[in-house]
Amino acid sequence: MNVPIATPPLTVRPLSPVMGAEAIGVDLSRPLDEATFQAIHRAFLDASVLVLRDQRLTPEQHVAFSKRFGPLSIHVKDEFLYPGIPEILILSNRKHPDGRPMGFEDAGRYWHTDMSYVEEPPLGSLLHAVEIPPVGGDTIFCNMYLAYDALPDAMKARIASLRGVHSFVASFEGKTKAGASRGTLTDEQKKKLTDAVHPMVRTHPETGRKALYVNPGFTYKVEGMGEAEGLALLEELFAHSTQDRFLYRHVWQPHDLVFWDNRCAMHHATTYEPRYIRHMQRTTVKGDRPV
Ligand code: OGA
Ligand code: MN
Repeated sequence: MNVPIATPPLTVRPLSPVMGAEAIGVDLSRPLDEATFQAIHRAFLDASVLVLRDQRLTPEQHVAFSKRFGPLSIHVKDEFLYPGIPEILILSNRKHPDGRPMGFEDAGRYWHTDMSYVEEPPLGSLLHAVEIPPVGGDTIFCNMYLAYDALPDAMKARIASLRGVHSFVASFEGKTKAGASRGTLTDEQKKKLTDAVHPMVRTHPETGRKALYVNPGFTYKVEGMGEAEGLALLEELFAHSTQDRFLYRHVWQPHDLVFWDNRCAMHHATTYEPRYIRHMQRTTVKGDRPV
């Protein structure tokens, strides 16, 4: 018989008035009962960014916990996947002994939501801080529900049925606002990538709330709109979304596991001094086509 393992009740503590919460009292290296899992899921939906501190997880445990939320996606930059565990993407400035980078070194240093350039972008990403610098390398998050809610009614009406075009290739080629310096893509990798077209306002499939869904990292034009007019509109929305009043800045502690909701939050990595190591591992949970 399967005996459920009793876990102490979960405490959820907000991290800012804008978004973000910390779930206290869970050890994800141990079996997780369904009630605690449900409480974590609820806290994630409420906060959009859920922080679980001091999680000393093996890559296998990281993958197993992530899979409770749905199937995982595998990143196209296959040279940065964890050896033997392709569900884990490495973000790191560590090098292999032969000098090759182990992971994305300066990943995400621009406002974006993960992989919005695919038809069914991931619902969320779980980033595990394996090694962090003593200072720097924070991650800033932006609440896209609040950004949408705060738009003037005229703008809400203007974008209600517009769709944005998202591309990973364009981001490498410097066509998005974030610009270049993301390394290169092989022809093989490019072949797997096409543009994705998504509504600029999406309704979150689990909370039912509306969120703005365009990002400077990957959205480079507006469907059916001239280039200049589309860019002007996007720029206006980007500037609006990233105002201080919509932001939470996460200062990492070693072994934080941060689970963000890509459907209603953007994020932005910050720099750190290259003499320090920053080694992070990410899983990415598949999501639905935005509607
Ligand atoms: C990511 C990402 C930001 C960071 O993992 O998707 O953008 O601060 N990371 O490492
Ligand atoms: Mn990212």
